[in-house]
Amino acid sequence: MDTKRIGVIVGSLRKESFNKKMAQALVKIAPENLEMEMVEIGQLSMYNQDYDENPPQDWVQFRNQIKDFDAILFVSPEYNRSIPGVLKNAIDIGSRPYGHSVWDGKPAGIITVSVGAIGGFGSNHHLRQCLAYLNMPCLPQPEAYIGGASTLFGKNGEITVPAVSELALKFINTFTSWVERNSTQLVPVKNKKSAQASQHTPH
Ligand code: FNR
Repeated sequence: MDTKRIGVIVGSLRKESFNKKMAQALVKIAPENLEMEMVEIGQLSMYNQDYDENPPQDWVQFRNQIKDFDAILFVSPEYNRSIPGVLKNAIDIGSRPYGHSVWDGKPAGIITVSVGAIGGFGSNHHLRQCLAYLNMPCLPQPEAYIGGASTLFGKNGEITVPAVSELALKFINTFTSWVERNSTQLVPVKNKKSAQASQHTPH
């Protein structure tokens, strides 16, 4: 199996983030052919369309970093039933200038981890909506809405609940197959005939 490079983006900047712990747990159990790299997003300046012509260095670096990955894994909390602002900012930066999105065609997976009972369902699906627009085929199953985060991890960040460990393993194995199947097949949106109409109505 070919090696696949996966960018792991965590939607929380919190030092003791449960989502960061989940991301690190997934890195540990990932199959050998996945090369997982954590991507920092907290340093990114706020997206402003005025700077598309002359972008800040942190945007340029981030876009180049994302371009190099075969696929992206998002691990995020839910903030007010949606995506944390820091994650949306990173997504917006990668998506512009129009027609040059670095997300285009990259397969994705989403895990949401929250202290609430519904495991970040709202955030997970708002993120899916963005990824559909960005032409990122997103792993449909297993869905991973992981609630009760405050009791899931041990002292060293290990997952202590067997059902969650099982889901994490199933998720990362299925994600690997998904990446293998989808990472080279999509035609970028800007080259597709069927997308030409939307070139004129990008919003
Ligand atoms: C939250 N939290 C939260 N939880 C949830 O299940 N649904 C929600 O809509 C929200 N909304 C929300 C908004 C804001 C601004 C904060 C700071 C928090 C609680 C959230 O699940 C909890 O803080 C997690 O610990 C966040 O994930 P990390 O930082 O531990 O990865």
